[in-house]
Amino acid sequence: MATELTYDRVQDYLDSLVPHRPAEMRAMEAYASEVGFPIVGPASGYLCYLIARMIGARQVFEMGSGYGYSTAWFARAVQENGGGVVHHVVWDEDLSQRAREHLTALGLDGIVQYHVSEAVQLLRETSGPFDLIFNDVDKQAYPDSLSVVGHKLRPGGVLVVDNMFWQGHVFDESDTSSSTQGVRELTRLITADPVWIASIVPIRDGLLLAYKK
Ligand SMILES: C[S@@+](CC[C@H](N)C(=O)[O-])C[C@H]1O[C@@H](n2cnc3c(N)ncnc32)[C@H](O)[C@@H]1O
Repeated sequence: MATELTYDRVQDYLDSLVPHRPAEMRAMEAYASEVGFPIVGPASGYLCYLIARMIGARQVFEMGSGYGYSTAWFARAVQENGGGVVHHVVWDEDLSQRAREHLTALGLDGIVQYHVSEAVQLLRETSGPFDLIFNDVDKQAYPDSLSVVGHKLRPGGVLVVDNMFWQGHVFDESDTSSSTQGVRELTRLITADPVWIASIVPIRDGLLLAYKK
């Protein structure tokens, strides 16, 4: 048999296929590996960028933005799509400030609006519609976020949600923690609702892609 195909090997391969990116983004990746900060990583980030380019996204709302790595991928796409807005939303003031520094260094600051806030509530209060909404907040908040997202996304818009495997916890039936149940419940809700065409891409920790009809 050829080389054994393990999940890690596939993920490393996918990461290796991501084209050259600015040194600032590589530094953000290196920092995440060093301290264990849960960014989406290169292959998922690049897929986010690809989707945003494919649908011509110019209005993007990100929930749970961290220090701006996933934001950088969306902002690059929006810039190349002709300009627009990416909302960076995180409830940590220091992460918001660090994101501002990274995205300024990347020349993307003009695209991004920064908010220090609880993300689901802010989406509720922000007028849309959005072309793309990305969700990476605490997992117990996933189920309740879906109805808000459904109202704010334009028809033909795309929802992207990270951590749909939740580091394997979703497969462990004895795991009934609120975060694991949150991921499971979002999966159940979105796959049962005919308004969505949804699938989980087995990239890194599982990336949900959902098209709003
Ligand atoms: C997984 S990290 C974000 C990583 C980022 N998406 C990336 O790939 O670069 C999630 C961040 O969102 C914050 N967060 C979690 N739940 C949130 C919520 N409901 N509202 C605002 N921020 C939240 C966390 O504190 C953390 O800093």
